[in-house]
Order: sequence, then structure tokens, then C-alpha cells
Amino acid sequence: MTKTYYVTTPIYYISGNPHLGHLYTTVAADVITRYKKMQGFDTFFATGSDENSLKVLKAAEKASMDPKSFVDKEAEKWKEFFKKYAINFSRFIRTTDEDHIKTVQKVLRNLHDSGFIYKGKYEGWYCVDCETFYAESEAEDQICPTCGREVFWISEDNYFFKLSAFGDRLLEFYAQHPEAIQPESRYNEVLSSIKMGLRDISVSRSSQNWGVPFPFDEKHVTYVWFDALINYITVCGYGNEEKNFDHYWPADLHLMSKDIIRFHCIIWPSMLMALEVPLPKKVYVHGWWLTSGEKMSKSKGNVIDPDEVVQDLCSKTCIESSLAVDILRLFMFRESSFGDDAIFTEDRFYSRYNFDLANDLGNLINRVYAMTGKYFNYKVPQITQWDDVFHKETEKDIAKYHQLMEALRFKEALETIWALINRCNKLIETSKPWELKKTENTQRLEGLIYTLLDTIRSITFLIYPFMPHFAEILSKSLCEKISIDAKICFGQLSPGTTVNQIGVLFPRIKIYTKNQEAEENKKEKDHQISFEDFLKLDLRVGEVIEASKVEKADKLLLIKLKVGQAEKQVVAGIAQHYEPEQLIGKKLVIVNNLKPVKLRGIKSEGMILAASDDNALSIITLEKDMESGVKVK
Ligand code: ME8
Ligand code: MG
Repeated sequence: MTKTYYVTTPIYYISGNPHLGHLYTTVAADVITRYKKMQGFDTFFATGSDENSLKVLKAAEKASMDPKSFVDKEAEKWKEFFKKYAINFSRFIRTTDEDHIKTVQKVLRNLHDSGFIYKGKYEGWYCVDCETFYAESEAEDQICPTCGREVFWISEDNYFFKLSAFGDRLLEFYAQHPEAIQPESRYNEVLSSIKMGLRDISVSRSSQNWGVPFPFDEKHVTYVWFDALINYITVCGYGNEEKNFDHYWPADLHLMSKDIIRFHCIIWPSMLMALEVPLPKKVYVHGWWLTSGEKMSKSKGNVIDPDEVVQDLCSKTCIESSLAVDILRLFMFRESSFGDDAIFTEDRFYSRYNFDLANDLGNLINRVYAMTGKYFNYKVPQITQWDDVFHKETEKDIAKYHQLMEALRFKEALETIWALINRCNKLIETSKPWELKKTENTQRLEGLIYTLLDTIRSITFLIYPFMPHFAEILSKSLCEKISIDAKICFGQLSPGTTVNQIGVLFPRIKIYTKNQEAEENKKEKDHQISFEDFLKLDLRVGEVIEASKVEKADKLLLIKLKVGQAEKQVVAGIAQHYEPEQLIGKKLVIVNNLKPVKLRGIKSEGMILAASDDNALSIITLEKDMESGVKVK
């Protein structure tokens, strides 16, 4: 039987636009899924939207829409957003989906029947933004202890879930499964929270009617978190497609950030215990993206919009947006460890781009492909000689990469890829292929270029989970395919295979400070001329009829030209580059309407065009023969 791997992200409140934080979790799930798939796992990846919240209701009101049309529209937007970032989810579950509502109701009935849900009176605080209940003592100053916003008082008849019954069982489970909450600091946090004692929680609301209706009491709807958590079992078929459910459950990994651990590590496993369903294998809590020292969140208005980052990168480099998407995906995991908070700044983003991509990886590909073209006519060479030490190191790096990917240590896994890239660049410098070519050391040259191409091939597969578009381009250029059968080890590339040129994928970006940028822009503007300005120039073809040296001026030639019917003379500073007789009969380009001047007492009625630098000068001639006097434009 094939091994399965089931990963989830939180289902998001879709009342605002997705930002870098939401993208982060979802790309992480995608990276893991792509990696596991390559390892031969039968994967399932669920993400989605949390729609039965009071927040959504308020946002719909604000948009003057009925809540259902509002969520339909927003869910579509979020789905498209994720697709644009190459996120290959198996299903985008919405908590207004019919199968989800049915499953929630089934769970409620089941837990009511078994006595884990009972009726009582609820009094306490509620925070709409966190959709969380707080005891009287937890928010005495009417401020939410989590987000600092105002809470309001609720007093209503509610249904309760007997969370208090699960403290000991949770402690027992976590003692046996220390790997179930990672990183370890989060594990300790959850444990001390459980040890402080658990109170039953309210799981229904009677004062609103937006939400999953209680199946045995029509006056109530389900508390949004209770319904939301159930998505993780709905999506893979609980109570509906049991075969599918048994196939994928328990989830291998729930991903999220630290704001919602209590729900996932205390309430959710208790619900599952009450249902007698096995618990998920792991909750991994990643860090927060911060801007100006604070958690990026839509309610604080300090969010980074990934679309803007991608557009800016495209406009600076002219690269395709699918490649820009890959670059942002890479950045998110290259920049800081998965469990730690991270800071997004444009500066960091563009320096990373320049260092990692324009320099290290881009240069490697450009150099190796150019040498393959020059020395082997774009064919993978034979390999008869290779460097054992290099291959051992590469094997070690690849093994390390796999260990780190399994441990979700993405930053370190990427570091091993870059170690490999840099070792390749170093190998080029130390083995000097251009000298091997000169000394006709063919076997070593073949072995070297083969090794480099073959290592680039490995890099393609290693980097694929993070940069799927890029990996596709690279593998195609080596006539390879990204597939689960692909072996990532030395010697897989067949000699004779054509290497297709791919050009410069990551052009370098000039990074300016704001001042430098303004200055640069101004310079450019000062430099630019309008089309009308250009039209003022009367450029013509002129035919040289006479040329002679100007006496006592070793740089000047006097050139007489026919420009249509007219005859003109020009004094040109080209005597050190052309003998007069060389020019006779040549057709040149002349600026015909330049104001005449006198040089060394001789009248000059125009200027001839030439390309020149410190050493050489070449007059501009015509590629095909044309009549003199013809306009140049
Ligand atoms: O909590 N940095 O939804 P939500 C990193 N609907 N990740 C971030 C982030 C940031 N600044 N901001 C958000 C909810 N995230 C509930 C979940 S699950 C049954 C119900 C990510 O829209 C991170 O994964 O507030 C966080 O846990 C999630 O978005 C919260 O999304
Ligand atoms: Mg939130």
C-alpha cells in the first residue's frame, strides 16, 4: 500500500484580502506536499475558508451584501489568489459547503448523545475579532487579552462541550507523543496551559442566526471555532466518504501560527477523543511575519500584499510573473527559520534576490550552459573522469537536505542547496575549464562540464518544492521531467542530450536608497529626449568624394561628400583611425543640419557619425548600398 501524507492549513477568515502571512502557511503546505509527492507519497492537502463567523457577517453588512453572496465572492478571490502562487491544494473547503454542514451536525448529535454536549447558561466576554470567549476574570477591563480590542458581554442559554473531562487524557497523550506539537517551546506552553485546568466551553450561539444550525435546537447556531475545526475531518470524508477518511486520517500535519494553538492543541484533540477518532500526528507552529515589529494582520492595516511584491519585482526585472511568484516563495523560506518570526523589508527581498539568484544560482547556470555551448555544441559530454571528493560532498548534501525537509527545517534545507551551488561555482574557479580547453585536456574538461550539468540537474529537483515554475524551466532545458520516478543522484544525465539555452533568468537589480533612486530617476529624465527632439536631427547618407589631411592637425581629416545633389565638407577628428584614401567612395551617415563652424580656419558643415571608445573608432557605414542623400531615421 502507498504511504499517505495529509497536510492542512488553517481555514482563513476571508473577510479581508489575503496577505503574506496567509500565503506563508499555505505555501509551506504546498512545499511539503510537493516534496512528499516526489517521495512517492499519496498526498492530500487541504486549505479553505472559515465563513460562519461574526466577522464575515459584519463585513457583508459593510459591503451591503447578503452574507452568502459575500462569502461566495470572497472565497473565489482567495482560491484564485492561492492558485496564482502555484499552490496545488487537493480541496479548498468552505465551511458553508453542504457536506461540511452535515458533518458538523452529525458531530453535534453524536456528542450530545454521548453526553459531551449539554445545555447550560453562558455568561462571559466575547471578542469578535478573535471569535473567542473569555471568563469574567480574563477581560475585566473589557479588553481582549489576545488582541487588545474591546470585548462584549454575553449572557445566553448555550450548549457546552465538556472540555474539562479531557485534561488528564491530553496530558497522557502528549507525554507519549512529545513530537505532536512543534517547536518544543510550543509543546511546553500547551502543557502548562492544560495543567492550569480546563473549563467547559460554549459551543453555540443563540443571538445570531449566521452559522451551522444546531440539529436538535433550532434556536442555536454552532460556535464558529467548533464548526471550523471540524473542517479537517470533513474535507477528507468523515461521516460521508468513510473509505477516503480511513485512507488519509489521521492528518500528518496541521500548520498554523501561534495565535491559534489553544484551539488546535487543546480543544480539537478533546473533540476528537470525544468522537473516538485518532488524533493528528503533528501540529507545527511557525513564526509570524512582522512589519515594524508587530504581527502583520489585516485588522492592524500593516500588511504586505504579495501581489504588490510580485508586480514590483516584475517591473524591476521584466521577468515573467510565474517566476516572480517562485522568487517570493523561495524568499519566505530562505529568509528565516520556519519556527521563528520574520521581518519583511524590500531591502532584504532584493538583496536576497541579487545574492542568491542573480549571483549564485543564475551565474552558475549561465556559465555552465555557455561553456556547454562553446566546448560541446550544447550536448552533454561523456564522462570518463570525475572528482570523487566533489561527488561524495554532493551526496552528503543531498542526504542532509532530505533529513531537513522531513524535519520541516526549510531554511537549512535551502542552505544545503546553496552549499551545493556554491561548491559548483568554486569548482569552476579552481578547475579553470578555459585552461583545460587551451591545453586540450579533453577528458578533464568533459568530466567537469558533465559534473556541473548533472549537479544542476539535481538542484532542479531539490529546489522544485519551493520554485516549481523555475524547476520546470530548468528541467526542460535538460530534457528532463519533474516526476516521482526521477532519481536525485549522480550520473543520471545521459551524454549526448541536448542542453537548451534558457537565457538570463535572474537579471541583477540595482538597489538604491530612496535618495539615490530619486537622483537616478532625475538623471534619466534629464537624459531623455522626446521623439520631436529626435526628429529635429536631419541625418543623411553621404558619399565621400574627396578626403585629405588637415595641415598641422594630426587628428583631423577634411572630407568632401555628396549628399543628394548637394556637396558638403566636414572636418572630422578621425585621422588617427583612417587614411584619407580608405574613405573615398564610402557611404557614411552625416548630421546634415548641424550649424556650420570653423575648425582650424576651415569651414565644417556637419558631422559624420562614428562609434568610438578610448582605443578604437569605427565610422558608421550602410549595411546595404543606398543612394546618397537618403534620410536616416
Ligand atoms: O485564525 N504571519 O483565521 P485567520 C504568519 N479562521 N502567518 C500568519 C500571519 C502572520 N503575520 N497572519 C496570519 C483563523 N497568518 C481561523 C482559523 S482553523 C480551523 C480556523 C496565518 O484568517 C497563520 O497560519 O486569522 C495563522 O494561524 C492563520 O493565518 C490565521 O488566519
Ligand atoms: Mg487571525
